[in-house]
Amino acid sequence: MKVLLAPMEGLADAYLREILSNAAGYDLITSEFVRIVDQLLPKRTFFDQVPELKNNSQTSNGTPVRVQLLGNHPEMMASNALRATELGSFGIDLNFGCPSKTVNKSKGGAVMLTDPESIYQTVSAVHSALPPTQPLSAKMRLGYEDSTLMMECAQAIADGGAQAITIHARTKSQGYTPPAYWHLVKHISDKLDIEKTINGDIWTLADAHQALKDSGCDNVMIGRGAIKNPKLADCIKKNQDKTAQWSQTAPLVKHFWMSITQEMSNRYCAGRLKQWLNYLKDQYPEAEALFVSVRRLTDINDIQPYIEAL
Ligand SMILES: Cc1cc2nc3c(=O)[nH]c(=O)nc-3n(C[C@H](O)[C@H](O)[C@H](O)COP(=O)(O)O)c2cc1C
Repeated sequence: MKVLLAPMEGLADAYLREILSNAAGYDLITSEFVRIVDQLLPKRTFFDQVPELKNNSQTSNGTPVRVQLLGNHPEMMASNALRATELGSFGIDLNFGCPSKTVNKSKGGAVMLTDPESIYQTVSAVHSALPPTQPLSAKMRLGYEDSTLMMECAQAIADGGAQAITIHARTKSQGYTPPAYWHLVKHISDKLDIEKTINGDIWTLADAHQALKDSGCDNVMIGRGAIKNPKLADCIKKNQDKTAQWSQTAPLVKHFWMSITQEMSNRYCAGRLKQWLNYLKDQYPEAEALFVSVRRLTDINDIQPYIEAL
């Protein structure tokens, strides 16, 4: 069983991917989506969005990072996929689950789940463009409004040539509202002969066990659960139900703050810190106290003393 870190646009950026991959062992990390419209993106766009490409598409501890592409134009997806792999990406992942209104309006992301043929065209174009050594995977939801086409969509992904599929066990309409319908994924996993990963609402070791059992999948992908409990991947891999102490998590927050304040434009740093603390506060009272202290602060110099005190 593999444990994968989920792509999370605007949340699991390269800074957090670096911290999380050092905090727990992941078999694979998928990047935030790179949006493809009607052009071959310049190399610098890939390097900006997925800086790990400069390190052989790995975080510093050697965890492989796979570029995720989002778009509905088969030829453009294919040429950009090839470019991403030439720049070093460890394979390509395709996004068929993004619920964003803007993305769906331009017929990308989850709306493609209403048209399995468009999924097939995209996957097969990318598959034909990539060298056979490059792994191709795709991530889908159970559907757009409902799950009536889930099997056709999953089949289109497999028939298009993807070797692996991740299923976020909710429709686009269900958003992120619990529960995740792991048992529905069993219909897909029973039928498809490719590597299958279950995703959605895996917050604990017990959730991981249940999700694997209900869905019949091979692997788990964790997203917000890893943001809230940075050791969750280790718990799942080692089958040990231990939440990290705040004393183990606080240094990660400190490290994150140091990286972003050194490298990111100052005006984004406070927001990024608060975004992470907003998840950690449900797990640790100390994180909640820190969140309350910095909640109204925007200047990094005002926040700095709180971080130094950690
Ligand atoms: C802030 C945020 C950004 C996301 N961005 C992406 C993305 O870029 N690509 C993608 O396939 N899924 C994206 N997702 C969906 C997650 O990968 C995952 O499917 C979802 O969060 C459910 O898993 P979880 O319950 O473990 O968080 C995003 C989710 C969140 C919360």
